[in-house]
Amino acid sequence: MTNPVQEIRDALTHLKSVSADQAQTMPPIYYTSPEFLALEEDHIFRKEWICIGHVGEIPNPGDYFATELVGEQLIVLRTQEGDVRILSNVCRHRGNMLVEGTGNRKNFICSYHAWVYNSEGALLNAPLMDRIEGFDKANCTLPSFTCEVWEGFIYVNLNGNAEPLAPKLENLMPIIKNYRMAERNFVYGEETVWATNWKCLAENFMEGYHLSPTHNKTLHPITPTSLCVKMPHDDYFTGYWAKYDPKYPERLPYPEGLTKEETRQSPMFCINPNHVIGLATNACVYMCLRPLGPDHVGIRWGVISTAEPDDQSAIDYVKLCHDFNEEDKTKLETLQKGLKSRYLKPGYLAPADFEGTIWDLYQFMARRLGSDVKID
Ligand code: FES
Ligand SMILES: [Fe+2]
Repeated sequence: MTNPVQEIRDALTHLKSVSADQAQTMPPIYYTSPEFLALEEDHIFRKEWICIGHVGEIPNPGDYFATELVGEQLIVLRTQEGDVRILSNVCRHRGNMLVEGTGNRKNFICSYHAWVYNSEGALLNAPLMDRIEGFDKANCTLPSFTCEVWEGFIYVNLNGNAEPLAPKLENLMPIIKNYRMAERNFVYGEETVWATNWKCLAENFMEGYHLSPTHNKTLHPITPTSLCVKMPHDDYFTGYWAKYDPKYPERLPYPEGLTKEETRQSPMFCINPNHVIGLATNACVYMCLRPLGPDHVGIRWGVISTAEPDDQSAIDYVKLCHDFNEEDKTKLETLQKGLKSRYLKPGYLAPADFEGTIWDLYQFMARRLGSDVKID
């Protein structure tokens, strides 16, 4: 029996010697192996900046949402001072989760034995514990995680060792800055699960090859496959421009300052590894992906718009997102079943404008997890 982790890591290393115009797909176990997922969790999701939501989900002091990342339970909250903070959602008494879902509160009271924490994570009260010699509330603070807000998106770095995020994305900024993402309104958000590997969804979002066949009635009339153009990439992002069909009307309202060309295209980009964004002139759909086993992905997705939530253009765009998401979900769930085949061999990827982003995502993984890379 070959070791699947070694096989995948060797395949990633092999990619480094293949030219982009000969790009081939990874072996299917890349998307199905639980052992490889464990490696991804430890050496990608615990080390990199991982997007877990948008500031529009917690606009007011006290607002919070709970989420899980590679088994870590997190509370993402807005402090009374207005900052975004990420705390462990695990009570320091015996490990109960403090909150689920979303809400607004000043303090967090564990429902099991009523220990109380404030929004800094400090333990304020622990009933009857003063009878225990040596017990000190100051030693029971909730761990807090390194956090950065970039263009309105909330990122966490679980191990706390990553360099600041914004400087890493300097090459991306000229491509997206005129679209003014940070000034857009949060108009919709949802948490869902699809039965596919997290990388299948990242790759799907990032390739334009499927736009016309998979989204024939929804996206093809706006951004057909044939008009896709690959954008530059670096270690931290990749993407393409989904150009608008010349027959498609203007997508209004859009920010002042877009060039003529920018008014007729959506930058589609991935901030490696898990944050994918489709940035239309007037609306923007994003997904924050979290692996939940090798064949399930947790998706926190939403829409930010130049319009207000109850404006018709925002409502119409959210409806469009639901429609094309359903089309993608159907494809990715049958894809995941197909990837379990023992007879599927690697094949060629489409030209760079259509699937070059997948090659870039592979190369990112190869730089992190190839067998030539020392991981500890
Ligand atoms: S587990 Fe939270 S108070 Fe006991
Ligand atoms: Fe799609």
